[in-house]
Amino acid sequence: MQSRVVPLEEGKESMLPMKPSQPKAFPLRLLRLFLLFLALCIAFSIISIYTIKRFGINNAVPTVKTSLQPCLEEHHALNSWIRPPANLLHKMNDEELLWRASFVTRIKKYPFKRVPKIAFMFLAKGPLPLAPLWERFLKGHDGLYSIYIHSLPTFDAKFPPSSVFHGRHIPSQISEWGKMSMCDAERRLLANALLDISNEWFILLSESCIPLYNFSVIYHYIMKSKYSFIGSFDDHGPYGRGRYNESMAPEVNITQWRKGSQWFEINRRLAITIVEDTTYYKKFEEFCKPHCYVDEHYFPTMLTIQASHLLANRSLTWVDWSRGGAHPATFGRSDISDDFFRRIYEGQNCTYNNQPSSMCYLFGRKFAPSALDPLLHISPKVLGF
Ligand SMILES: *[C@@H]1O[C@H](CO)[C@@H](O)[C@H](O)[C@H]1NC(C)=O
Ligand SMILES: *[C@@H]1O[C@H](CO)[C@@H](O)[C@H](O)[C@H]1NC(C)=O
Ligand SMILES: *[C@@H]1O[C@H](CO)[C@@H](O)[C@H](O)[C@H]1NC(C)=O
Ligand SMILES: *[C@@H]1O[C@H](CO)[C@@H](O)[C@H](O)[C@H]1NC(C)=O
Ligand SMILES: *[C@@H]1O[C@H](CO)[C@@H](O)[C@H](O)[C@H]1NC(C)=O
Repeated sequence: MQSRVVPLEEGKESMLPMKPSQPKAFPLRLLRLFLLFLALCIAFSIISIYTIKRFGINNAVPTVKTSLQPCLEEHHALNSWIRPPANLLHKMNDEELLWRASFVTRIKKYPFKRVPKIAFMFLAKGPLPLAPLWERFLKGHDGLYSIYIHSLPTFDAKFPPSSVFHGRHIPSQISEWGKMSMCDAERRLLANALLDISNEWFILLSESCIPLYNFSVIYHYIMKSKYSFIGSFDDHGPYGRGRYNESMAPEVNITQWRKGSQWFEINRRLAITIVEDTTYYKKFEEFCKPHCYVDEHYFPTMLTIQASHLLANRSLTWVDWSRGGAHPATFGRSDISDDFFRRIYEGQNCTYNNQPSSMCYLFGRKFAPSALDPLLHISPKVLGF
């Protein structure tokens, strides 16, 4: 091989400077090379045909064809841009995923019938003990929702193929309360859900959340919201502004600092704002270290700075802090009763799109696994599904 390569390199090098002085030597050499190449090609073809005939290597040919065919078709059809990813377990790292998820279309009118969906995003440690209640809630509403689950990377989910949760885990990493890794997990959920162009609203939930109304009620409530971000703010609480670090200025000043509950509802427009952010991310990563509880501050504060007029400033997730302490109350088997829910539904008055509304909360937390059976029992009568 080497002896053949060397003259070729020589020939190439001598080509330009020698062209005028040696007009005849060059074509002759080229012709020799060409004939050699031709001979090699023919030899190779003959060998190939023999091997294919003898060892049946041609099995490989149809495989290549079938994988090539749909690939070519896909790129010529609009479908490939509309269809959600079939497999959620992509190989993108966070940087690649956030970049990909930040793509926006600029023409507002969709050239196809787009039915907006709600993305239910479960931020869980492991199993979803209340899954049967959610299955019942979602039954019959295919095409109006999608599900995404972020859990500990070591957790091995075992949902049967018939389950709405089957194959809905996204590539996950360890995330810890109060740390940036928790915000990373939430951004990862949003980014994965953004890859499906039909997802219009994104709802962050935990394994202890339950729906307080049936799917139709929740769907219409969310889709008709005038505000793009629904989540509570509490900037006057004892921990409100004390956690602000002046090194965050000028990007973040103390009047813009917000504390919010972690569980939110957000639409596509603002979800992209979260996914594309690098400016505020850096500030929070550096200056909102443990004891600052970055997951309570990062999204509420950056959204207040960038789009305060799109924030509803209230939560749709009911939670009971009345027992005091660092964590809200958890409800189990013995707590579930008609009365318990009557207190939730009739607890207070709220506004919805600037109008008074008797509906305050769409979701409730925190419910223990032991609450599942009584919840399934009373859900048709009390929760409406
Ligand atoms: C959902 O709940 C609403 C209000 O409670 C009720 O009017 C409606 O019929 C329910 N829808 C279904 C499909 O059960
Ligand atoms: C913080 O920023 C806002 C908006 O830019 C500005 O109106 C306000 O005066 C600033 N406050 C401080 C304390 O710098
Ligand atoms: C602000 O953050 C820096 C870096 O983490 C730290 O050194 C400094 O003590 C903080 N300042 C306050 C007032 O917490
Ligand atoms: C929520 O608060 C922001 C200021 O932080 C304000 O601009 C916005 O109008 C408020 N939204 C509602 C619905 O009151
Ligand atoms: C809610 O508003 C209604 C009508 O304004 C009032 O009668 C009722 O007492 C209010 N409920 C609460 C819990 O504030």
